[in-house]
Amino acid sequence: MTHAILRNLTQKNPCMVRGEGIYLYDSDGKRYIDGASGSALACNIGHGVKEVAAVMATQAEELAYNPFHCSHSQAYEDMAERLIRWAPKGFVRVFSVSSGSEAVENAVKFGRQYHVARGVPSKYLVISRWQSYHGNTLGALACSGATGRRRRHTPMIRDAIHIPPAFCYRCAFEKTYPACDLKCARALENAILQEGPENVSAFIAEPVVGAALGGVPAPPGYFQKIREICDRYDVLFIADEVMCGLGRTGANFAMDHWSVVPDIIAIGKGMGSGYFPMAACLVADGIMHTMQSRGAGFEGVHTCCGHLLGSRVTSVILDYMEKNDLVRNSRQQGELLLQGIEHLKASRPSVGDVRGLGLMCGVEFVKDQATREPFPSELKVAEHVMDACMDRGLIVYPGHGTIDGASGDHLLIGPPLVITSKQIGDLLAILQDAVAVVEKEIRI
Ligand SMILES: Cc1ncc(COP(=O)(O)O)c(C=O)c1O
Repeated sequence: MTHAILRNLTQKNPCMVRGEGIYLYDSDGKRYIDGASGSALACNIGHGVKEVAAVMATQAEELAYNPFHCSHSQAYEDMAERLIRWAPKGFVRVFSVSSGSEAVENAVKFGRQYHVARGVPSKYLVISRWQSYHGNTLGALACSGATGRRRRHTPMIRDAIHIPPAFCYRCAFEKTYPACDLKCARALENAILQEGPENVSAFIAEPVVGAALGGVPAPPGYFQKIREICDRYDVLFIADEVMCGLGRTGANFAMDHWSVVPDIIAIGKGMGSGYFPMAACLVADGIMHTMQSRGAGFEGVHTCCGHLLGSRVTSVILDYMEKNDLVRNSRQQGELLLQGIEHLKASRPSVGDVRGLGLMCGVEFVKDQATREPFPSELKVAEHVMDACMDRGLIVYPGHGTIDGASGDHLLIGPPLVITSKQIGDLLAILQDAVAVVEKEIRI
């Protein structure tokens, strides 16, 4: 009998009691490789880091929390300074909140309030993409294109406009890169013109799609084209780097891979690495300058904005990442992980596509590698693979609706950025075994 609500209302999950680096231990003493860095791809620095625990204890004794409506803290200032140092040139201010969903909603609000402040109040619409995930609060869900997570709530949300994702393995336009001339990016221009540029506030996208597609980076040139279109129609570009930011993809920010600078970046997950719920909007100079010069404040405060203890935790995490060169490690180990999963594709017929950037990798399962036909949804292949991995001591993150919101199975694999080459080998061995067992069960 439990009084606590878990994600699955009927299943009994193992109870985790201890963590160290990439490993978690349950109450029976069983060890798991945390191949998903928590839920999902959050615990960038790994579990049980003593430096973080020590700072949390001393800071909590001294002062954990200050009233945000009338006071400031050096901890918040220091964290903001570090994040701006990590960010692309042009970013000047940080607004911290407690979850990725809040970061996304506040990014959208920053966009809207900027347009109002500069005297263009007609701009309010947000354009996003199908098969995206921007969070689970109603506002963030409105931007999300993950059908399974949205459907029950769609009557309650004020929906964003959705365009097809940049997903070459299953191109919505049935084209091939680069001959496609980035039709998926040009779809944004079409949507803006349909809605009227005077009504469109912002476009939001994950540079590497996480939960909804399983580690899919946009192709080269995509975000350059997006930036061009946004500039042409006076539309802000919000990069949702809640999952892919802060070193996860082997660069400080995933957008660095395209050398494109967005107007607002939403971050979360790795910012608190599971030690503290931290997320933020990073806002570029142009927006801040306009809002300040027009005397506009920002309406969007929450109880735990600029959290003092949380800010200290994020600063320690960023320092730890710098000291241990974890962005580089993510890049190097990510290459190994991707190569390993590519090998898996060669030996396991159910592995249809392998993708990723840094330590944010994905596997898509198919019934037929040649035709890319998916498994019937009711087989729940990704969940079976996750269960088989769990049995063998590996945690991965399953996803569904990869193709059209309803069918398609994938796994997201993203261990903590402290993982070693030897541990990548251990993870791959378990994954290989688990996929083979599930293939046998479903007789492929
Ligand atoms: C890209 C992206 N944006 C936003 C969110 C929402 O973050 P949170 O669950 O912290 O609200 C997530 C969570 O998975 C995410 O992956």
